[in-house]
Amino acid sequence: PRSIFFSRHGESEFNVEGKIGGDSLLSPRGLEYARALPALITDNIGKDTELTVWTSSLRRTIQTGSFLPYQKLTWKSLDELDAGVCDGMTYEEIEEQYPDDYANRDDDKFNYRYRGGESYRDVVTRLEPVIMELERQENIMIIGHQAILRCLYAYFHNLPQADLPYIKIPLHTVIKLTPKAYGCDEERYPLPI
Ligand code: F6P
Repeated sequence: PRSIFFSRHGESEFNVEGKIGGDSLLSPRGLEYARALPALITDNIGKDTELTVWTSSLRRTIQTGSFLPYQKLTWKSLDELDAGVCDGMTYEEIEEQYPDDYANRDDDKFNYRYRGGESYRDVVTRLEPVIMELERQENIMIIGHQAILRCLYAYFHNLPQADLPYIKIPLHTVIKLTPKAYGCDEERYPLPI
């Protein structure tokens, strides 16, 4: 059976600083994760099995995939949820500068759209072509972002929209989904990095 692997990019400089969005590079820990990924994946699927790695167009996902010995494809549609005017801010800064927005997002996280940016609902729409292609492909590994992987994960597990923005997709963990006739089997591989 074919497998779909999901991983967030390794810890980024912005993750360390608690800032959202941006296009920062990996932290030293994040880079360590990137270096550890090939052994985890090839041990799991075997050296000669074909796999294609999909990343976003942002540097932290490309860097995370850079040591994987497989064909790679970059999708702009896999870029992280666009936080608009809040891009590059910490959640504390957003609460201080845009208190109404902060409260509105808390009220309805799925539908809240950042000023000049996107909502989770927008991202679900933007991901439709990615999902169509994903359904046609064999083994795929997606190195993505928190909000993006929440949407893809919810699609494969058929989870309700209201829960989607709260799905836990931890850093430095590979999630393996194996689609079945109904639903998906799942395994998680956390790396102690
Ligand atoms: O903090 C990492 C990050 O990927 C941000 O770039 C993004 O805005 C956020 O997570 C999405 O998570 P949430 O919707 O819970 O704020």
